[in-house]
Amino acid sequence: MGLKSLKVVRVGHRYVRDYRTLTHLCLVSRALGAECVYLEEVESGLMDTVGEVNKAWGGDFPVVQAPWKKVFREAKGEGRTIVHLTMYGDPLQDRVEELREKGSFLLAVGGPKVPGEVYQLADYNVAVTSQPHSEIAALAIAIHDIQRGEELKKVFSGYKLRIVPSARGKQVEQKT
Ligand SMILES: C[S@@+](CC[C@H](N)C(=O)[O-])C[C@H]1O[C@@H](n2cnc3c(N)ncnc32)[C@H](O)[C@@H]1O
Repeated sequence: MGLKSLKVVRVGHRYVRDYRTLTHLCLVSRALGAECVYLEEVESGLMDTVGEVNKAWGGDFPVVQAPWKKVFREAKGEGRTIVHLTMYGDPLQDRVEELREKGSFLLAVGGPKVPGEVYQLADYNVAVTSQPHSEIAALAIAIHDIQRGEELKKVFSGYKLRIVPSARGKQVEQKT
Protein backbone atom coordinates (compact mmCIF):
# COMPACT_ATOMS: atom_id res chain seq x y z
CA MET A 1 0.00 0.00 0.00
CA GLY A 2 1.47 3.37 -1.03
CA LEU A 3 0.88 6.76 0.48
CA LYS A 4 -2.49 8.41 -0.13
CA SER A 5 -2.75 11.86 -1.66
CA LEU A 6 -3.70 14.17 1.20
CA LYS A 7 -4.41 17.87 1.42
CA VAL A 8 -5.40 19.66 4.62
CA VAL A 9 -7.61 22.69 5.09
CA ARG A 10 -8.26 24.62 8.26
CA VAL A 11 -11.68 26.25 8.23
CA GLY A 12 -11.94 29.55 10.06
CA HIS A 13 -10.09 32.74 10.53
CA ARG A 14 -7.14 33.34 12.74
CA TYR A 15 -7.91 34.27 16.28
CA VAL A 16 -5.68 35.74 18.93
CA ARG A 17 -2.82 33.56 20.16
CA ASP A 18 -3.25 30.68 17.72
CA TYR A 19 0.08 31.21 15.93
CA ARG A 20 1.64 28.19 17.62
CA THR A 21 -1.37 26.01 16.86
CA LEU A 22 -1.28 26.98 13.19
CA THR A 23 2.44 26.33 13.02
CA HIS A 24 1.94 22.91 14.57
CA LEU A 25 -0.90 22.14 12.18
CA CYS A 26 1.40 22.92 9.24
CA LEU A 27 4.38 20.99 10.59
CA VAL A 28 2.31 17.94 11.51
CA SER A 29 0.63 17.96 8.08
CA ARG A 30 4.03 18.16 6.40
CA ALA A 31 5.68 15.51 8.55
CA LEU A 32 2.77 13.10 8.04
CA GLY A 33 2.96 13.39 4.26
CA ALA A 34 0.24 15.89 3.31
CA GLU A 35 0.85 17.71 0.02
CA CYS A 36 -0.15 21.13 1.29
CA VAL A 37 -2.16 22.98 3.87
CA TYR A 38 -4.76 25.66 3.13
CA LEU A 39 -5.39 28.37 5.69
CA GLU A 40 -7.86 31.22 5.44
CA GLU A 41 -5.27 33.69 6.73
CA VAL A 42 -1.52 33.27 6.65
CA GLU A 43 1.00 35.44 8.46
CA SER A 44 4.35 35.90 6.76
CA GLY A 45 6.10 34.56 9.90
CA LEU A 46 4.31 31.25 9.48
CA MET A 47 5.30 31.03 5.79
CA ASP A 48 8.90 31.73 6.81
CA THR A 49 8.91 29.07 9.53
CA VAL A 50 7.53 26.37 7.23
CA GLY A 51 9.83 27.52 4.40
CA GLU A 52 12.86 27.17 6.68
CA VAL A 53 11.76 23.69 7.73
CA ASN A 54 11.41 22.68 4.05
CA LYS A 55 14.83 24.08 3.25
CA ALA A 56 16.53 22.26 6.11
CA TRP A 57 14.60 18.99 6.22
CA GLY A 58 13.52 18.58 2.58
CA GLY A 59 10.42 18.47 0.47
CA ASP A 60 8.44 21.40 -0.80
CA PHE A 61 5.43 21.61 1.48
CA PRO A 62 3.40 24.74 0.66
CA VAL A 63 1.15 26.76 2.94
CA VAL A 64 -1.57 28.26 0.75
CA GLN A 65 -3.95 31.06 1.65
CA ALA A 66 -7.44 30.29 0.35
CA PRO A 67 -11.07 30.44 1.48
CA TRP A 68 -12.29 27.01 2.61
CA LYS A 69 -15.26 26.92 0.19
CA LYS A 70 -12.97 27.38 -2.79
CA VAL A 71 -10.70 24.63 -1.43
CA PHE A 72 -13.70 22.30 -1.02
CA ARG A 73 -14.85 23.08 -4.60
CA GLU A 74 -11.41 22.35 -6.04
CA ALA A 75 -11.11 19.16 -4.00
CA LYS A 76 -14.44 17.94 -5.36
CA GLY A 77 -13.20 18.77 -8.87
CA GLU A 78 -10.10 16.66 -8.23
CA GLY A 79 -12.28 13.77 -7.04
CA ARG A 80 -10.96 13.95 -3.47
CA THR A 81 -12.96 12.59 -0.57
CA ILE A 82 -13.61 15.41 1.86
CA VAL A 83 -13.36 14.32 5.48
CA HIS A 84 -14.29 16.90 8.07
CA LEU A 85 -12.92 16.08 11.50
CA THR A 86 -15.33 16.98 14.28
CA MET A 87 -16.19 15.55 17.65
CA TYR A 88 -19.84 15.42 16.52
CA GLY A 89 -19.19 13.10 13.57
CA ASP A 90 -19.27 9.32 13.05
CA PRO A 91 -16.61 7.54 15.08
CA LEU A 92 -13.43 7.09 13.03
CA GLN A 93 -13.35 3.39 13.90
CA ASP A 94 -16.75 2.96 12.15
CA ARG A 95 -15.61 4.69 8.96
CA VAL A 96 -11.95 3.90 8.61
CA GLU A 97 -12.35 0.73 6.52
CA GLU A 98 -14.43 2.68 3.99
CA LEU A 99 -11.93 5.54 3.97
CA ARG A 100 -9.00 3.19 3.40
CA GLU A 101 -10.58 2.29 0.04
CA LYS A 102 -10.26 5.90 -1.19
CA GLY A 103 -7.14 7.24 -2.87
CA SER A 104 -7.17 10.97 -2.30
CA PHE A 105 -8.47 13.22 0.44
CA LEU A 106 -9.06 16.72 1.63
CA LEU A 107 -8.98 16.60 5.43
CA ALA A 108 -10.78 19.56 6.98
CA VAL A 109 -10.31 20.73 10.53
CA GLY A 110 -11.80 23.70 12.32
CA GLY A 111 -10.78 26.38 14.70
CA PRO A 112 -13.06 27.52 17.52
CA LYS A 113 -16.30 27.42 15.47
CA VAL A 114 -17.08 25.82 12.13
CA PRO A 115 -19.95 27.01 9.87
CA GLY A 116 -22.82 24.52 9.54
CA GLU A 117 -22.27 24.34 5.77
CA VAL A 118 -19.02 22.47 6.31
CA TYR A 119 -20.99 19.51 7.70
CA GLN A 120 -23.21 19.49 4.59
CA LEU A 121 -20.44 19.87 1.99
CA ALA A 122 -18.09 17.28 3.51
CA ASP A 123 -18.42 13.69 2.29
CA TYR A 124 -17.75 12.46 5.82
CA ASN A 125 -17.94 14.04 9.26
CA VAL A 126 -15.66 11.95 11.39
CA ALA A 127 -14.90 12.00 15.11
CA VAL A 128 -11.68 10.92 16.75
CA THR A 129 -13.40 10.09 20.03
CA SER A 130 -16.59 12.00 20.82
CA GLN A 131 -14.73 14.27 23.21
CA PRO A 132 -13.47 17.80 22.55
CA HIS A 133 -9.73 18.02 22.04
CA SER A 134 -7.47 19.33 19.29
CA GLU A 135 -7.52 19.66 15.50
CA ILE A 136 -3.87 18.64 15.41
CA ALA A 137 -4.38 15.45 17.40
CA ALA A 138 -7.50 14.58 15.38
CA LEU A 139 -5.65 15.16 12.11
CA ALA A 140 -2.64 13.09 13.12
CA ILE A 141 -4.72 10.13 14.27
CA ALA A 142 -6.94 10.23 11.17
CA ILE A 143 -3.94 10.31 8.80
CA HIS A 144 -2.27 7.50 10.74
CA ASP A 145 -5.32 5.26 10.91
CA ILE A 146 -6.46 5.76 7.28
CA GLN A 147 -2.98 4.82 6.06
CA ARG A 148 -2.21 2.17 8.65
CA GLY A 149 0.99 3.99 9.57
CA GLU A 150 2.47 4.08 6.04
CA GLU A 151 2.98 7.85 6.38
CA LEU A 152 5.64 7.22 9.04
CA LYS A 153 7.95 5.89 6.31
CA LYS A 154 7.85 9.00 4.14
CA VAL A 155 11.27 10.13 2.92
CA PHE A 156 11.82 13.83 2.17
CA SER A 157 13.99 14.70 -0.82
CA GLY A 158 16.35 17.64 -1.19
CA TYR A 159 17.22 17.93 2.48
CA LYS A 160 20.20 19.66 4.05
CA LEU A 161 19.74 17.89 7.37
CA ARG A 162 18.67 14.31 7.96
CA ILE A 163 18.37 12.56 11.26
CA VAL A 164 20.05 9.20 11.41
CA PRO A 165 17.74 7.39 13.81
CA SER A 166 19.54 6.33 16.89
CA ALA A 167 18.43 4.68 20.10
CA ARG A 168 20.53 7.08 22.18
CA GLY A 169 21.94 10.50 21.46
CA LYS A 170 21.58 12.66 18.38
CA GLN A 171 22.96 11.76 14.98
CA VAL A 172 22.42 14.20 12.15
CA GLU A 173 23.70 13.96 8.59
CA GLN A 174 24.50 17.37 7.14
CA LYS A 175 24.73 17.93 3.38
CA THR A 176 27.14 20.59 2.29
C1 LIG B 1 -11.18 23.75 19.46
S1 LIG B 1 -11.78 22.37 18.58
C2 LIG B 1 -13.45 22.72 18.51
C3 LIG B 1 -14.29 21.54 18.89
C4 LIG B 1 -15.56 21.55 18.02
N1 LIG B 1 -16.70 21.90 18.83
C5 LIG B 1 -15.75 20.31 17.11
O1 LIG B 1 -16.62 20.39 16.25
O2 LIG B 1 -14.99 19.33 17.16
C6 LIG B 1 -11.15 22.75 16.99
C7 LIG B 1 -11.18 21.63 15.99
O3 LIG B 1 -10.57 20.47 16.52
C8 LIG B 1 -11.08 19.33 15.87
N2 LIG B 1 -11.53 18.39 16.89
C9 LIG B 1 -11.62 18.61 18.21
N3 LIG B 1 -12.05 17.51 18.85
C10 LIG B 1 -12.23 16.55 17.90
C11 LIG B 1 -12.66 15.20 17.92
N4 LIG B 1 -12.98 14.60 19.05
N5 LIG B 1 -12.72 14.53 16.77
C12 LIG B 1 -12.37 15.13 15.60
N6 LIG B 1 -11.96 16.39 15.51
C13 LIG B 1 -11.90 17.11 16.65
C14 LIG B 1 -12.20 19.79 14.94
O4 LIG B 1 -11.71 19.87 13.61
C15 LIG B 1 -12.53 21.17 15.51
O5 LIG B 1 -13.10 22.01 14.55
